[in-house]
Amino acid sequence: MQTVKITVNGALYEETIPARMLLVDFLRDRLALTGTHVGCTHEGVCGACTIHLDGEAVKSCMMLAVQADGHAVTTVEGLARNQELSVLQKSFREHHGLQCGFCTPGILMNMTDFLARHPNPSDEEIRQGLIGNLCRCTGYVHIVKAVREASKTLASTAG
Ligand code: FES
Ligand code: FES
Repeated sequence: MQTVKITVNGALYEETIPARMLLVDFLRDRLALTGTHVGCTHEGVCGACTIHLDGEAVKSCMMLAVQADGHAVTTVEGLARNQELSVLQKSFREHHGLQCGFCTPGILMNMTDFLARHPNPSDEEIRQGLIGNLCRCTGYVHIVKAVREASKTLASTAG
């Protein structure tokens, strides 16, 4: 067992956990933040478990919780501010970027990081950015549109 201090969505948690506990299991089972999904039994291929570690998108099934000790994690529950959805979340709702929604938390976390690094992406760049996120329902067309429209909204409100 090991004691870790991890900031999650702005709150500091000090927990004693098994050294081999995965970060995704820590978030879901310890903190009950079940918006972070597990879609591929921890193989790193589906992207449903994507979170931010110090602002960068990472797959939380591919790292141990102890590796996040002393770091800041954001989950999909932390994207909204003061009860208001983020621009990207609103865009997914407006442009039908989801159907069952299982993949959506991971895509939102990945694309939030992506848009921070690619403020004016082409559709091809968006598709490249989505390579690590599997969606079984949508065919991706509306996901790409939602990301594209969010980038325009962010650009128009920047500065
Ligand atoms: S559960 Fe992490 S990539 Fe699928
Ligand atoms: S909306 Fe169902 S898996 Fe993507």
